[in-house]
Formats: sequence, C-alpha cells, structure tokens
Amino acid sequence: MTATQFHDYSPEDSCFYTDVVEGMSQSPKQLSPKYFYDQRGSELFEQICQQPEYYPTQTEIGILHEHREEIAALSGAGCELVEFGCGASRKIGVLLEGLKPKTYIGIDISRDFLIESTHRLAQDYPWLEVHGLCADLCEPLTLERSADGQRMGFYPGSSIGNYEPTEAQALLRNFRNLLGPGGTLLIGVDLKKDPKILNAAYNDSTGITSQFNLNVLERMKQELGAEVDTSAFEHQAFYNAEKGRVEMHLVSTREQDLRIGASRFSFDKGESIHTENSYKYTVPEFQSLCWRAGYEAVQCWTDKNALFSVQLFRVVGL
Ligand code: AVJ
Repeated sequence: MTATQFHDYSPEDSCFYTDVVEGMSQSPKQLSPKYFYDQRGSELFEQICQQPEYYPTQTEIGILHEHREEIAALSGAGCELVEFGCGASRKIGVLLEGLKPKTYIGIDISRDFLIESTHRLAQDYPWLEVHGLCADLCEPLTLERSADGQRMGFYPGSSIGNYEPTEAQALLRNFRNLLGPGGTLLIGVDLKKDPKILNAAYNDSTGITSQFNLNVLERMKQELGAEVDTSAFEHQAFYNAEKGRVEMHLVSTREQDLRIGASRFSFDKGESIHTENSYKYTVPEFQSLCWRAGYEAVQCWTDKNALFSVQLFRVVGL
C-alpha cells in the first residue's frame, strides 16, 4: 500500500455556464482554454502530443533526457520537486530518476487527475514522499517543508504560453513564494520560429487539433444544453507575429444563433470565438519576463533546431 499526502486548498470551481455567457457577450467572442480539458478534451490533447507536427512534447522530453544529469546536479541533493499543474503528467519520470528528490509535490486544480497521478507516482517510486496539493495556481500557495533541500519547481509543456505575458509574470511571482529562497524553477518554453512550423503544429493533418477545439462546443451542448450547429463552425489556428502568439478560433461558416437557456448569441458569417492564445518567446524575452517576476537565469537548453527550450531560473530577492 502506498501513501500520498493530500492537501485540499478547496479551489473555487469555475462556472462553465457563467463563463460561456460572459465570453459570448464580449466582442470579439472568447472562451478560456481551460474549458478544453474535460475527459474527452484531455484525451484529444494526449493525441495532439503524439502528432508529428506537434513538436513541443517530444522535443521537450528529448531536452530533459539529454540534460538530466546536469539538471540533477543543479537541483542539489534531497530536493523537493514541485510540479505546477501536474494533471496527468508523464514527463516527471525523466526527472525523478536523475534527481532522486526526497519529496514530490504535485499541484493541480483538477482533484481527479491529481489523485490519479499522485497515486501512480507513489506506486512507481516507493522511495518518494508524495504530496498532492489541490489548488488554483493563481492563488497564494504555501506548503510546509518536509526536507532540508531546496525546492525545484517544474512547469513543463509551455503551459505558461496560455497566459498573457503580464499574467505569466504574476503567476511566476506566485510560484516564487512556494519555491522559497534559493529555490529554482525548471520551465518548458516554446520558442519563436518560422511561422510555417508553428502553423503546422496547430493544424495537424489528421485533424486532432480541430476536434480538440470543436470539443468545447460539444461540451456546451452536453453540459449546458446549448443549441448550436457545431457543423457550421470551423477550426482556425494561425501565428499572429505582431502579438507573438498562436491563436485558435472557432469560426462560424454562416450566419447563425447559439442559444443557451434564455440567452441568444448571434454570429455573422466568418465571426469567431477566440478559444486560445499560445505565446511564443525568444530566450532573452523570456529571461527578462522572469527577471521581472523575481528570478535570475541559470541555464537554458534547446534542441538542435531551436524549436523549444527548457530553462532554469533561481529565485532572487526573497
Ligand atoms: C498545453 C497550452 C501548451 O498551447 O500548445 C495544443 C495546448 N492547443 N494544441 C499549446 C494546445 C492546441 C498547448 N498547451
């Protein structure tokens, strides 16, 4: 029998209905990408990660694997490894073997994914003290230390790219308090590059990303009883160079209404719901964002094609 320690910070449930109504009332219409990840959406995301065009996942795992010894040396012995937004993460294995941390602390807002992933870890690594912290990453985070070693945060997958740069800075500042003085942050950051590569990554030829995007409309139908013709919406994703981000939209192919309860939202032909931003950075851009969030750059690793980066930062000024 393996034991994990569970800490529930009772994060406030966000309300899909309220957020949909609010998002559809805005101009341009929008919806948070967090609503992609129901059971089906999470499965589709796993499939996206296996598409040849979607380079971030395999590239990041390659970088972590290649530099695992150097990363372990920089983390220090007996560290506490903190994974932000661990979800059903499978990348942590690459780190655990090399780092041999004393403690693992997984943090996620999804209670179910958190319980599943922490239990699996405790089973696979019997020597590891496993904690699950159910919390909203944007809210203040604290957990008493159980080891003498430093804390190392891990935030993979370029999840940081979903936030506006100013929000990203605030989020990283929030992580800093949990990491503490001398703590480090290992973060996966997708890099600016030839837009052709970016556009292909979000328009895979099998159409999985399209299904992933459209799934949010299915959720509206199933969970909110929305009346909407999903076949009259199209997936659109493109790199917006001026903003430095890939944008995903659901574009209405004709004039139509979307009804939810008593509310009616009308779409012109070609009008879209903006469903996701995925910001891309150069290494210096991301380093200066982290500097403003209270970190100094320690190391940066990339793949040979400079598609993706894994960067290590150290907390300063605490
Ligand atoms: C999980 C937010 C990092 O932005 O690349 C993948 C999500 N969206 N394909 C990303 C996503 C479309 C992904 N993140």
